[in-house]
Amino acid sequence: MRFRALSAAIALSAVFLAGTVDAKPIMIKFSHVVAENTPKGQMANKFKQLVEERLAGKVKVEVFPSSQLFGDNKVLEAMLLGDVQMAAPSLSKFKRYTKKLQLFDLPFLFKDIAAVDRFQRSAAGQKLLDSVKKKGLVGLGYLHNGMKQLSASKPLLVPADASGLKFRIMSSDVLAAQFEAINANPLKKPFSEVFTLLQTKAIDGQENSWSNIYSKKFFEVQPFITETNHGDLDYLVVTSKSFWDGLPADIRATVKKSLDEAIAFGNRVAAKKAVSDRQKIIDSGRTKVLSLTAAQRALWVAAMKPVWKKFEGQIGKDLIDAAYASNK
Ligand code: SIN
Repeated sequence: MRFRALSAAIALSAVFLAGTVDAKPIMIKFSHVVAENTPKGQMANKFKQLVEERLAGKVKVEVFPSSQLFGDNKVLEAMLLGDVQMAAPSLSKFKRYTKKLQLFDLPFLFKDIAAVDRFQRSAAGQKLLDSVKKKGLVGLGYLHNGMKQLSASKPLLVPADASGLKFRIMSSDVLAAQFEAINANPLKKPFSEVFTLLQTKAIDGQENSWSNIYSKKFFEVQPFITETNHGDLDYLVVTSKSFWDGLPADIRATVKKSLDEAIAFGNRVAAKKAVSDRQKIIDSGRTKVLSLTAAQRALWVAAMKPVWKKFEGQIGKDLIDAAYASNK
């Protein structure tokens, strides 16, 4: 009898001890606005998989796609309040945190994603990751989506075709200036509202990557897409400085390594989707994809490029020159 009481007491203290020793896992809420089957959606899911394999029981990652937790207009504020730990907003959505990242919105700055990639890997590109530091954020890495195309309710072959049309844009002053340069009307609206705005004809067009145009079905409500490749849609994966600095060093290193691998995976998905989603859109027969002649393209470049000068003071001429040099 005494032996059974002793064993029960030992078992109880073991449970008690386990309860106190087993710390709760660190939670990383990762919020984003796109569908799961996109470069960013797949990158976030890969990150979760790698972290939970390598830090089982220590770190858990919850991914919230499609603006389920926060839209891009709120997510960075929420991050600074500790309500979400990671996100990857488009580089166009950081204007309240730094003016430097406006660089990536300059029209016709990069000829393709390979040039964007070269610049991001350069010393100047890597230094830009720190541009959000003063505001309490940590730039952990860039992720590609793809070059942007213009979709509209009418064929757009020369800039004059866009005159007077309403285009949804991300919350970027450079993108506003880009559309004003062709006498169009830019409207800053959240990504989650774009489909309905197009469907109800509250706006006439928008700009986005092939992956976003496909995954959010914009092509079903836009009869024309012009293959302009006029700008870059990439992301900055961010966290808050207080969360990042508060992680134990070994955990932080494994989380960063997992993120780097997830980003490399996401970039491979982005490269494939830029081709396959474009083809799926063409094959759907729901929209007409238009190509520009060299002369037509030159007109778009001539109309939009003066925007660079307008933002040179905020971005820095050296940075613009360094980015442009990555085209070679
Ligand atoms: C995204 O790809 O995260 C959203 C882009 C947009 O707002 O158009």
